[in-house]
Amino acid sequence: MNISWNHSLLKENTFGMDVSAACHVDYSTPEELTGFFASGRQFDLPKPFLHIGKGSNLLFTGDFPGTVFHSSIKYISRLSDADGRVRVEVGAGTDWDEFCLWCASNELWGPENLSGIPGETGAAAVQNIGAYGVEFKDIVTEVHCFDAVTCSIRTISKDDCRYGYRDSIFKQSAKGRYIVISAVFVLEKDGLPRLEYGHVRAAVENMSGDAHGRITPGLVRSAILGIRNSRLPDPSVTGNAGSFFKNPVVPRSMYEKVANYARSKYGPDYQVPHFDAGSGFIKIPAAWLIEQCGWKGYAEGNVGVYSKQPLVLINATGKALPSEIIVLEKKIIVSVLDRFGIELKPEVDHI
Ligand code: EPU
Repeated sequence: MNISWNHSLLKENTFGMDVSAACHVDYSTPEELTGFFASGRQFDLPKPFLHIGKGSNLLFTGDFPGTVFHSSIKYISRLSDADGRVRVEVGAGTDWDEFCLWCASNELWGPENLSGIPGETGAAAVQNIGAYGVEFKDIVTEVHCFDAVTCSIRTISKDDCRYGYRDSIFKQSAKGRYIVISAVFVLEKDGLPRLEYGHVRAAVENMSGDAHGRITPGLVRSAILGIRNSRLPDPSVTGNAGSFFKNPVVPRSMYEKVANYARSKYGPDYQVPHFDAGSGFIKIPAAWLIEQCGWKGYAEGNVGVYSKQPLVLINATGKALPSEIIVLEKKIIVSVLDRFGIELKPEVDHI
């Protein structure tokens, strides 16, 4: 267990905010974590407590007055192999893309569409990460957690995790109670590629398959990494936290108003991009709404809106203050609300 005080978080948030935590705790095994809480040492640490992964989906709004926990539980372990299915357990501190790479290298289908998402496996389980038609919940079967109430490790089934769009029990009723230790996935040896989202099929078809012309998990992974690299900023170069806003899900009547606006502006055949979200609701890409309000490529001081994907706010100079991001966020929310009557909600956690 590594405990440090007045700890810089600069390297622990992909937005690159130069802030610090009053205290920082890093642990490497479940036993270390359990022993720590059983000993009562947590009562001596500053509150509140916050558990982070790679800090790739959060915005520190200032110095953190409490204790930041981080897991360095890193392993990928084959549990069983039967009937073409391989069960694999992955430690919470394992880099998510390292797991995706491991699957591709072992010709196992599962997380290939989620390749390249910055972050760690524990945070992926909390956030139900998703990209290119696949979500974490589609491949996980159970999550092992430390339960701070009973001070023991327990297994939570996928159903009990109550996964939704970037949502789970870990962000709702059980917030602050569980710390993810590991996640178990079922991977397929003869799985099928999932190519229906956007340009994924075209990107895969542009690549040559293996020696037999087959599409492999590695091929899909390469296609996905290619799409990501062409549209999303690399956080190791330009600070960002991925999609800053959620894609709003609105009643059909509201979508019709947006569609009417777009037809009056671009002509009667114009189609607003949208997806049926069921029960009379429609999901509209926030990127489209933000672009319509003229923000794409916008720059102000140290911050900006990424020129290839306006859903991503960037720390353009590497020197941005949290307040600059927040001012830009508010301006975007107000302009989308004024024009479309839709209130964007941040996807990035504000700490
Ligand atoms: N669009 C525009 N202008 C743009 C970019 C996109 O109008 O400049 C419209 C297009 O109509 C496009 C649509 O937005 O078809 C969707 O764009 P994209 O495929 O890039 O996906 P997204 O909805 O903007 C979501 C996730 C991303 C994930 C991608 C791909 C959310 C909040 N974001 O973005 O996740 O990588 O789909 O699956 O759901 C993240 O969570 O941090 C993240 C990057």
